[in-house]
Amino acid sequence: MGKDKKVYVCTECGADFPKAYGKCPACGAWNSFVEQTVKVELASKIAHGFERRDIRAPQRVDLVKYHEEPRIGTGDRELDRVLGGGLVKGSMVLIGGEPGIGKSTLVLQVALRMSGKKILYASGEESVNQIKMRAERVGKPTSECYIVSETILENIFASVHDVNPDLLIVDSIQTIASETVEMSAGSVTQIRECSAALLKFAKESGIPVFIIGHITKEGSIAGPKILEHIVDTVLQFEGDRHYLYRILRAHKNRFGSTDELAIYEMSGSGLREVENPSELLLSHSDQELSGVAIAVTIEGVRPFLVETQSLVSSTAFNYPQRSATGFDLRRMNMLLAVLEKRAGFKLPQKDVFLNIAGGLKVSDPAVDLAVISAILSSNLDLAIDSKICMTGEVGLSGEIRPVSRIEQRVAEAAKLGFKKILIPQYNVSQLSKKSCGIEVVGVTRVEEAFRALFG
Ligand code: TYD
Ligand code: MG
Repeated sequence: MGKDKKVYVCTECGADFPKAYGKCPACGAWNSFVEQTVKVELASKIAHGFERRDIRAPQRVDLVKYHEEPRIGTGDRELDRVLGGGLVKGSMVLIGGEPGIGKSTLVLQVALRMSGKKILYASGEESVNQIKMRAERVGKPTSECYIVSETILENIFASVHDVNPDLLIVDSIQTIASETVEMSAGSVTQIRECSAALLKFAKESGIPVFIIGHITKEGSIAGPKILEHIVDTVLQFEGDRHYLYRILRAHKNRFGSTDELAIYEMSGSGLREVENPSELLLSHSDQELSGVAIAVTIEGVRPFLVETQSLVSSTAFNYPQRSATGFDLRRMNMLLAVLEKRAGFKLPQKDVFLNIAGGLKVSDPAVDLAVISAILSSNLDLAIDSKICMTGEVGLSGEIRPVSRIEQRVAEAAKLGFKKILIPQYNVSQLSKKSCGIEVVGVTRVEEAFRALFG
């Protein structure tokens, strides 16, 4: 027979321990432990699992008959793409993001635009009146959308029974509580139990479920990490609240690739899909300014051009300041060391500020060459020709390393009217011979790139 055991669970990472700690040994969070009771299955009972019993027979993979999961369009092309071609029946999708980023707006838009479908939008955060006001801004619905302001899970299921929707949206999981759990909404146990119940519901009914989860400043879904393991798909909504652009990225997807990403613009009438991000991210100034270099980057599977801006000034204090927005600071420090070695950059005497325009965060190493060029341009106070762009990873010894999908990058630069692109020499041979109206310059070392840019 089972017996009860007490464990202490960290509300930040979900790790459990036999005793509570002030600081979680697993994730380092402070004062994050709550007590929980678990049923312990006795080892002898589990051992019965080795006995012969009726089970599903393993099948040879090449003989398994399968069918593609049919997809349900959400009425939002970008979202469909990130989901891997639309929603899958019975799947559970978690949309995470910081408060105020636009999660509720996104799901409400979906709820209003899934034409011909019936949607139940249950919100524990806003009143029906508030949701209606938002819906008015977003536009006329083409779907049959029902809204309910509710925080009790059992009541939401009762509404599902009444409405019989094609899609259920729960906003947000942190505000929902089940009556069977004696804990307040937002606690680990509530989040875990409610999401498990919603998952069971999705799998049994075949109705897809969207759940919204707030993320903490550190970037993890608030409450237990286990939420991410339970759901089929985790979409993260990112961006700076002070900028217009929002990026929706798949962090986990059981039904598609995690490379996909969608870009939206927050407008007065909700979120608008951005089909050509490069045009928005470049400042299109005719004036040539020092400290600016254009990088061709690939985020997800899409190439686009971003402006890297840098300001280098003399250090006024004893130690130089370094700041990077939208770019990894450690990587920038590494690139500065390369500059010191290869271009006589006086590292201890210079403050360096770096910014990726548009509030975007880039993680593609191919941005390196533009970062290093922007810094040098500011330091020399020499502008780079505004018709030149570049792509290339910079290695520790100043070598320009090859990048992925060079054809796509060069094509994007040509499409936007650039005259010249600097690319890693190694990549040159991968380009097809036919010229696409842009001069391609292969470079092997940073010094070569600098000569091409500054003469
Ligand atoms: P919201 O979707 O409520 O964010 P979340 O659910 O992630 O907390 O809204 C985000 C912000 O967007 C909010 O400050 C208001 C703004 N907004 C617009 O600018 N235009 C609009 O059409 C809507 C609906 C919201
Ligand atoms: Mg919200």
